Amino acid sequence: MNKTIIVTGGAGFIGANFVLAWVKQGFGKVVNLDKLTYAGNLENLVDIQHNANHVFVRGDIGDQKLVAQLLAEHQPCAVVNFAAESHVDRSIHGPEDFIQTNVVGTFHLLEAVRAYWGGLNATDKTAFRFLHVSTDEVYGSLEKDEAPFVETRKYEPNSPYSASKAASDHLVRAYHHTYGLPVLTTNCSNNYGPHHFPEKLIPLVIHNALAGKPLPIYGTGQQIRDWLFVEDHCAAIRRVLEAGKVGEVYNIGGWNEKPNIEVVRTLCRILDAKKPREDGKPYADQITHVEDRLGHDQRYAIDATKIARELGWKPQETFETGIEKTVNWYLENQHWVNNVTSGDYRNWVQKHYADRGEEMA
Ligand code: NAD
Ligand code: TYD
Repeated sequence: MNKTIIVTGGAGFIGANFVLAWVKQGFGKVVNLDKLTYAGNLENLVDIQHNANHVFVRGDIGDQKLVAQLLAEHQPCAVVNFAAESHVDRSIHGPEDFIQTNVVGTFHLLEAVRAYWGGLNATDKTAFRFLHVSTDEVYGSLEKDEAPFVETRKYEPNSPYSASKAASDHLVRAYHHTYGLPVLTTNCSNNYGPHHFPEKLIPLVIHNALAGKPLPIYGTGQQIRDWLFVEDHCAAIRRVLEAGKVGEVYNIGGWNEKPNIEVVRTLCRILDAKKPREDGKPYADQITHVEDRLGHDQRYAIDATKIARELGWKPQETFETGIEKTVNWYLENQHWVNNVTSGDYRNWVQKHYADRGEEMA
């Protein structure tokens, strides 16, 4: 079997970081299947635009025929599924897309993969992996003094987003239990880093601060998230793909629990030092408390002991080093942010890829 992998959702935040690292580090060929929703941005992949080890295909994971064709054509040794609707606030305003992609889409993807896998020879069948990228949000919300989430924690998803991810995790589990599909599932905490769409807390705050806009804190800002630098997440996924035990779940986290208000204040302090406001006032003056998110989960925290013990993975970045790298990236890539916030990245996609047909190698 060749070393080609299929990555879904590889034009989004984490998927793009994963694909860039995979191709740049020479791990092999990636076929990148992405629907290019509002969250998919081909500009994320410009560094590997002309790399023969990257094949971009615009399409939906729910398009079973297309996925079957790609599997037959490229004969991958693994499929890594990042594709999803991922923003909790959007899921509250309109859950339907979340059900379509995260639940129905994952089902069709699994069906196509099951058919392909069933037709492989014995050696390739044993070597094949379906890795499903999921979230800690499926476990629900922790009390202040509760122990962090372990892999055996019961699922208690609270938002339409986390419920749809939980449903997809269950399907993946069932395809292993029922059909023997060699699956791996990872449940990760909140990521941050380059190419993060500025609707999520950290990139939104960096963008709004520099634009002189309010920094919206939902409710008290005392909600706690466990933050992991995106490149650490990508390294963990590579490690699980390489050495994870089939059928197992691995929790991935940064051991970095922070209340939202502290994250925002840290960002303000870093920006005060790197790019002071023209009026000399602190960016923290822009902090504005706004109405809380409906059903807002109070606390997420990951116990990443299993992946450390069994696979030897540990995060390389602390929150302090990771957040500094992140702020630097946004300061150095203001054109990316401007293209995203103005919507120009969509025109950019048309301008640069219109003549290339659906595939970009
Ligand atoms: P994202 O929203 O930035 O990117 C999602 C990508 O999937 C986009 O490129 C989008 O175009 C694509 N996509 C959406 N629907 C599709 C479909 N039907 N077919 C094909 N492509 C489709 O998301 P992200 O933050 O990069 O998250 C990636 C994965 O990691 C998701 O499964 C998410 O649940 C999971 N996750 C995210 C975090 C986080 O903090 N961002 C943490 C843990 C787990
Ligand atoms: P977010 O980045 O949307 O990730 P998630 O909801 O998946 O954890 O939000 C992180 C935390 O920040 C969450 O508790 C909600 C909060 N938040 C704000 O306070 N203000 C904002 O403008 C956003 C987008 C999020």
